Amino acid sequence: MNNKFYPKKEMFQEPLIKNMCEYKELVEEFEKDYEGTWAKFAKEKLDWFEPFTRTLDESNAPFYRWFDGGKLNVAYNCIDRHLKTKKNKAAIIFEGDNGDKRILTYRELAYEVSKTANMFKNQFNIKKGDRVVVYMPMIPEAAITMLACAKIGAIHSVVFGGFSAEALRDRIIDASAKLVVTADGAFRKGKPYMLKPVVDTALEHGCECVEKVCVVERNEQEITWVAGRDYSYNELIKNESSFCKSEPMDSEDPLFLLYTSGSTGKPKGVQHSSAGYILWAQMTMEWVFDIKDNDTYWCTADVGWITGHTYIVYGPLAAGATTVMFEGVPTFPDAGRCWQMVEEYRINQFYTAPTAIRLLHKMGADEPSKYDLSSLRILGTVGEPIDPAAWKWYYEEVGGSKCSIVDTYWQTETGGHMISPLPAATPIKPACATFALPGIVAEVIEEDGTPTPRGEKGFMCITKPWPSMIRTIWNDPERFKKSYFGDCKKDGKPVYFTGDGAMIDDEDYITITGRTDDVINVSGHRMGTAEVEAAIKKHDNVAAVAVVGKPHDIKGEGIFAYVVLKSDDGIADELEIIKEINSLIKTEIGAIALCDDMAFVPDLPKTRSGKIMRRILRSIVKGEAITQDTSTLEDPSIVQKIENIVNG
Ligand code: WTA
Repeated sequence: MNNKFYPKKEMFQEPLIKNMCEYKELVEEFEKDYEGTWAKFAKEKLDWFEPFTRTLDESNAPFYRWFDGGKLNVAYNCIDRHLKTKKNKAAIIFEGDNGDKRILTYRELAYEVSKTANMFKNQFNIKKGDRVVVYMPMIPEAAITMLACAKIGAIHSVVFGGFSAEALRDRIIDASAKLVVTADGAFRKGKPYMLKPVVDTALEHGCECVEKVCVVERNEQEITWVAGRDYSYNELIKNESSFCKSEPMDSEDPLFLLYTSGSTGKPKGVQHSSAGYILWAQMTMEWVFDIKDNDTYWCTADVGWITGHTYIVYGPLAAGATTVMFEGVPTFPDAGRCWQMVEEYRINQFYTAPTAIRLLHKMGADEPSKYDLSSLRILGTVGEPIDPAAWKWYYEEVGGSKCSIVDTYWQTETGGHMISPLPAATPIKPACATFALPGIVAEVIEEDGTPTPRGEKGFMCITKPWPSMIRTIWNDPERFKKSYFGDCKKDGKPVYFTGDGAMIDDEDYITITGRTDDVINVSGHRMGTAEVEAAIKKHDNVAAVAVVGKPHDIKGEGIFAYVVLKSDDGIADELEIIKEINSLIKTEIGAIALCDDMAFVPDLPKTRSGKIMRRILRSIVKGEAITQDTSTLEDPSIVQKIENIVNG
């Protein structure tokens, strides 16, 4: 599939970027006057309480500052400013797992957010700058809570509901959160599941910072209420006023923290700004999803991940769009659920992960043909490279060979899309993220900044600061510098390295080749090998462990663990140990980090200085020939022994 797919012009009415000429003109405009062009967009797109006086401050690089002097409020930009023209337009359409529905217009959303914001202020004493941890299912109250925080200037940290009590506790402590907002639980595949008991366990020790817990009652299952600590959202909200002033925030005031995995053990609290973040969320929503006033847009991510932040809540609402929130899973009650919803809501943009596409393809290749999907105009993917087979099915069967597919490449740290086709303009090569968006200077380079030759793998770097970039790692500015600005330089200056490899072809198309660090991409979710290893090491009988990614049909990558036991008493024991290790992972991190496979090996391939040669372990699990030099290993014979165990 090397031929290109051209956008079907008749699908687009007035796209903001109509063709590649316009794309190039915009890129050139940024090249000629980088700051001026960003300033122009910032003034045009956002509502400011006070104008900014300086576009970009690079004096304390890499702690870049954007739009200093300006004051604005993100919730105001997402809701209040739309009330003049769109108060009766649907802002959020909620579809429950069991099919129940709720539509919140912009006016209703304004009302709920203000009440919630007042509740946070009045009942829980939340002030500007306080941290609020949000551990919630996919219900409108999750978005309302995030926006209510933004309204009063509190910093939210949403923790994905699949994380365990231990993982939640670490994040609460790192952020010293004062309030936790959660739900009793929610519904999945027709059955209730619980979240509040996880919060209870997390708060058992070490979380003295937490004063109150606010519980949304969603599934109405029995939960324990701790007197003086736990309060019902549903009850308290009744007494609050529906008017709340939007706190004027400095451009650089943090909007939220979102923890993500890195190559060392502890997750990183990625800190985003207010103005730069919301600006790019809105601009990419308009450029990449071609959002129009009558559109209904659906992103299937969870609010616990960056995609849920930028492309379920902040981007769509800043753009005044209608965004769908879905509580359930794509395969319940059957693999036609998504397509049934596309038909029912006349969805125009559908945004999901390759892992979901592969699953839906496998479980229901013919399902799309049973529904009317003619409303679709744009299909998006995010989170991992999409393989050509999944791409083809998505394009032909879901999109009827007429929709544009936007393969959006970005990260928690980038805040919004970096590399993506523009749906009405970019000729698409399947499974290729194509070109950097206007304003984003993405380069594939070597460590010293020289461009990587075409067709070869290099480091995917963003070589100029951009408004929605990560500002720092919460509590750890040194780690921020080291993690992102420690590897690559250009013209002698450190530049942002994404951690991904990439390749540019002879037509300048960029293909992402995957992580170059010890991060595994499981179903589009980042998992640090060190985190998983730390959990496994808690097992009494584990002497050493190394975790690597193993190609997986649906997940993209699965987790494979090489385990060295202290004492090995045979196969029966090993089965027991596998169970115990997986149960440890579930407790320490959550079910998303469970190992797909494990091999018990006599030792790991280590250099004489004790460094584990992961590249060898990755090759073995993929069944690739070992090309690495093994002569520097402490025990070169170990490679063959491991190979025999894994592949023999
Ligand atoms: C990977 C998700 C290939 C990449 C928004 C990146 C992708 C990591 C793509 C970020 C894509 C994301 N093609 N790889 N279109 N999109 N990735 O922080 O390795 O959860 O570094 O953000 O996902 O994952 P994160």
